[in-house]
Amino acid sequence: MALLEIRTYPDPVLREECAPVTDFGDALKKLAEDMAETMYANEGIGLAAPQVGVAHSFLVVDPASPEDRGREVLALANPIITESDGTVEFEEGCLSLPELTVPTTRKARVKVAAQDLDGNGIEVTAEGLLAIVLQHEIDHLHGRLLVDYVSPLRRTSVIRKLKKLKELEGQEG
Ligand code: NI
Repeated sequence: MALLEIRTYPDPVLREECAPVTDFGDALKKLAEDMAETMYANEGIGLAAPQVGVAHSFLVVDPASPEDRGREVLALANPIITESDGTVEFEEGCLSLPELTVPTTRKARVKVAAQDLDGNGIEVTAEGLLAIVLQHEIDHLHGRLLVDYVSPLRRTSVIRKLKKLKELEGQEG
């Protein structure tokens, strides 16, 4: 396994419409392992492939409580939301947008159709935190980021702050 570099805003890969996963071989399994390791190392509860520079429709999530984390990673290829209802408000963060949290309104319950690591069709019914994180990660697969949920009044200052952070990160090497 290997830790992957997390791409941060405004890296253009974060804005790509991801291509479908068509190859369910060893490379995908390795990507899943590396993304899970990277997610845990960064204390994330989900990670989408473009966040590690891979513009493919693939994500991993594990929203379990801290003591249960690592037991069950959900890895989904080509996920799409097929049903949803209700709304829930949440304060979300994103590993690609350091130091930013954004209040969002998400669907409270979702049904997601996807494929597993072997290409088998699966369906996930989710509510609570899992529903929220799935919507967040699926957004990534379509180039949508939390900054898009920031109110127009706040957006300019938020983007300026993110770019400033990115410059500092560049200076540190
Ligand atoms: Ni994110």
